[in-house]
Amino acid sequence: MSDKKKILVTGGSGYIGSHTCVALMEAGYDVVVIDNLSNSEPWVMDRVGEICGRKPEFCEMDLQDREGVRKFFSEHKGLDGVIHFAASKAVGDSVANPLKYYRNNLGSLVNLLEGVLENGIQSMVFSSSCTVYGQPDELPVTEDAPIKRAESPYGNTKQISEEILADTQEACPNLQVIALRYFNPIGAHSSARIGELPRGVPDNLIPYVTQTAAGLRDKLRVFGSDYATRDGSCIRDYIHVMDLAEAHVVAMDRLLNHWNSEPMEVFNLGTGTGVSVLEVIASFEKVSGRKLAYEITTRRPGDIEQVWADTRRANEVLGWTAKRSLDDALASAWRWECALRGIEGN
Ligand code: UD1
Repeated sequence: MSDKKKILVTGGSGYIGSHTCVALMEAGYDVVVIDNLSNSEPWVMDRVGEICGRKPEFCEMDLQDREGVRKFFSEHKGLDGVIHFAASKAVGDSVANPLKYYRNNLGSLVNLLEGVLENGIQSMVFSSSCTVYGQPDELPVTEDAPIKRAESPYGNTKQISEEILADTQEACPNLQVIALRYFNPIGAHSSARIGELPRGVPDNLIPYVTQTAAGLRDKLRVFGSDYATRDGSCIRDYIHVMDLAEAHVVAMDRLLNHWNSEPMEVFNLGTGTGVSVLEVIASFEKVSGRKLAYEITTRRPGDIEQVWADTRRANEVLGWTAKRSLDDALASAWRWECALRGIEGN
């Protein structure tokens, strides 16, 4: 029997989940993954094993399967904590198929929480999003900013999930939850063995940029140049996925080591710096040594103009700060795309 603490990571073969598995194992945790592979590949776990020198235990399962979740917990006693990533995340798809999002993202969470409570697991980290703020009135946005009406069913599932977790923690004094509100995660592990794996045409900026540079797409469309920002393009807070992954380890350490009877804690995870789309392109061209084909087009419906994080709470309470730069993140994203496509990179 290992004396290492064991963490269940749902959605552990996805983008942020897989990087978090690496960070957890490097910090000395044992990891069990549940994933239905709906938006990831079976080989991702092999790659995590390659990077860490040991593989997480893997359980292919859909968390919507309540009986399956029950059975999983009856066969996995002694879990110390849970990090819950598993969810659908495509904003446009959620507008077209809202019920799929409500059923999957909320049903899975409820099934998982039943398992957590029935098995006396006391520590849970939840994957939330800065989408809960909409367009904030004040920037940088703090965790105390008002939650705006969600722009999409996806965003709404994050808001409702936070409420479900806060209510459950209040009702169950033995459960402690931390919700982490991510800004824009980008980049890949330095080994270029794991990274973001969008299916089909990417919705998000960075995979679209790297796929364009790799020749899979003709050109990037920059959605809008008439925003009230320094260069007219939208501003976001892009955070390296390994910084994000490490924040989950710190959050889990806190839950396991500091008992705290306060309500659910919420932390922004960003760099604290806003970067425009045109600045991302310039940084990408610098680190990749390639010119990126792009054109300015109209605004994308639903986009907010600008958002970046006030990170003081995470800095002060968790003792965590994003360490890696935008250039590092984009260089790692490019190395990953090159590795994936068998291209000679930079
Ligand atoms: C989006 C979601 C957010 C979700 C996140 C992760 C919206 C409104 N927000 O964030 O809820 O948590 O993805 O999946 O959809 N851009 C281009 N051209 C492109 C793609 C993007 O110019 O081809 C621009 C966008 O206008 C935006 C920035 O790049 O300003 C980042 O876009 P994206 O990567 O899609 O993330 P968000 O929209 O910030």
